[in-house]
Amino acid sequence: MLFDTHAHLNDPAFDEDREALMAGLADKGIGLVMNAGCSLESSRDIIRMAERYPWLYASVGSHPDSADEVNEEVIEEYRKLCSHEKVKAIGEIGLDYYYEDIPREIQKKAFRMQMALANELDMPVIIHEREAHDDGMRIVKEFPKVKGVFHCYSGSAEMARQLVNMGWYIGFTGVLTFKNARKAVETAASVPLERIVLETDCPFMAPEPYRGKRNDPGYLPKMAEKLAEIRGISVEEAIAATTENAKRLYRIQ
Ligand code: NI
Repeated sequence: MLFDTHAHLNDPAFDEDREALMAGLADKGIGLVMNAGCSLESSRDIIRMAERYPWLYASVGSHPDSADEVNEEVIEEYRKLCSHEKVKAIGEIGLDYYYEDIPREIQKKAFRMQMALANELDMPVIIHEREAHDDGMRIVKEFPKVKGVFHCYSGSAEMARQLVNMGWYIGFTGVLTFKNARKAVETAASVPLERIVLETDCPFMAPEPYRGKRNDPGYLPKMAEKLAEIRGISVEEAIAATTENAKRLYRIQ
């Protein structure tokens, strides 16, 4: 069974058919899903969702696009939410200098505050980092005890090797299957298999041949097939390894 380590099943894109889609995931080989929070409000929503499905987990945190909501009161709310049994990570948190909807200084402050919470609570983190490699690495290194995953990884293979050496995981989305995914493929080929996790980031990032369409966890086998091809291993091995890695990352038995 596959573990989708990063999904947004609470997204309005699923409002029409969410229940049916979720009921059909097991038949498509999807055994576990981590639903990632993006704001205090969405974090609360996904905890309520996770309470209803034994295979669904939640992470809580403010995405760089919501960095301006982060203050001591919000951190205190996250601190309380983290004691919920279905909350297994803090995220997605980080930096996005591609869209830069929120000024960089505010993004960095929110990122640091949430990394400090992960440090305090000893929880793994889910990092969103786009076009902010230097600042992302700098802040991660300020919290040497905090580990987690760089989701939808977009850095260099060299940076990935550095992260892996520091104890981090690298998350790959459907981007891995894109024709122009040279950098992601190079990274997936060169980092140790035991540090790779797969994710959909649905409803975004659908793999080929569904690129541009709505993504959902049912497409995750496409990523496992691609990873198997890149690594020269069987699809079964790719599934077993990435599921094992994801459970280790999120500390799920
Ligand atoms: Ni995401």
